Amino acid sequence: MSISNISWEAQLDLNIINSSVQEALKTKKLFRYQFKDSSSFVNTLEKAICEYVGSEFALGVSSATNAIFLALKALGVNSSSKVLIPAFTFTAVPSSVIQCGAEPILVDITESYVIDLDDLRQKILSSKARFLLLSHMRGHLCDMDEVVKICKEHSIVLIEDAAHALGVTWNGKQAGTFGVAGVYSLQSYKIINAGEGGLLVTNDPNVFWKSVFMSGSYENNYKLHSSKSIEIAHQYKNLLPVFNVRMNNITAALAIPQIKNIELTIARINKTYNQLKQLLSKRKEIQFPEESLSIRPVRDSAQMRIKLEEIDREVLKSKLNDSNIPISYFGGQNNTNARLYQNWAFLKKTNHILPNTKANLSEVFDLRLPSHFQIRDINLIGKSFLQIFDEIAKGV
Ligand SMILES: Cc1ncc(COP(=O)(O)O)c(C=O)c1O
Repeated sequence: MSISNISWEAQLDLNIINSSVQEALKTKKLFRYQFKDSSSFVNTLEKAICEYVGSEFALGVSSATNAIFLALKALGVNSSSKVLIPAFTFTAVPSSVIQCGAEPILVDITESYVIDLDDLRQKILSSKARFLLLSHMRGHLCDMDEVVKICKEHSIVLIEDAAHALGVTWNGKQAGTFGVAGVYSLQSYKIINAGEGGLLVTNDPNVFWKSVFMSGSYENNYKLHSSKSIEIAHQYKNLLPVFNVRMNNITAALAIPQIKNIELTIARINKTYNQLKQLLSKRKEIQFPEESLSIRPVRDSAQMRIKLEEIDREVLKSKLNDSNIPISYFGGQNNTNARLYQNWAFLKKTNHILPNTKANLSEVFDLRLPSHFQIRDINLIGKSFLQIFDEIAKGV
């Protein structure tokens, strides 16, 4: 086994998903509403996620981006709204705000890649926004007690983009359950790999039922979701636009066994992350973020700050890529990375006041750690990484 044999693509564990998918296929019913008694695979997945994160309601949809869009719409975000978001997130997040006709207000991030709460306080006052779409980028959580307190103090509606933070907890509470709605992604590079897919969770029956209708539950199909607070649902019948962003039963059949297995997966990937961190931290120039004791992380990717000259970081990135280590870099010139706000040219406003975001990302590398990795893979990666790093650091 050598570094060139390592496969970095997300893989499906067929042993885990096979019987669930076969069972779904045998029913010959791909569309969730072909089951007339709330027993569809999508319903089962929704129940499983409610149990796992401790939420009252869940809705399966076609992507996390669409789940965010529905949550924002259900909460009344429209063309006169401003929505605060951290300036470091995936491009689809500001896009979902734009899709509602609203204006995203970008908030600075800290050295730990999370929203800067001082800048949040300032921007709440200066923008008069009423919504915070808190994106837990790469699964990093800010001080959740503090952010909830700020939102309460200023009557800000909190929506969590936990697309990449399923299973991450703050003092034992699941990311995605602190605000009025939370969202998870089932896209292949996330902890649950169903190819594509999203889940919206909430304890608010109005948000849930409005989202159900808007997701594409036409006529009486809403009755197949749940009987909880159904009297609220009746009121919304035919009142809301229908965007058809439903989840199908095969997606759910792929995700159900993975949710059941998620704690084992988390334990395994956290072990591989810790091994990589231990190996690379042997060089003082390679710095991993400090871990808060309040957080139980899910590290299916590694972010590291590398203290080299900028030109050397560019060389490091390309040499690592040439050696089958597909690492990304958030700094440098003409960087087209979709997670950098400078590249969100679709935003009307360009003069964002963000004194720290660019600088805080300028030395940072980003490496995906697929869940099939074993310690021996990490050892090979660590060895090659350090060899290449040492050559560059020593100017060889
Ligand atoms: C932080 C974050 N939010 C939202 C998304 C969008 O998720 P989806 O692809 O399911 O729409 C992603 C996807 O990478 C993400 O990383």
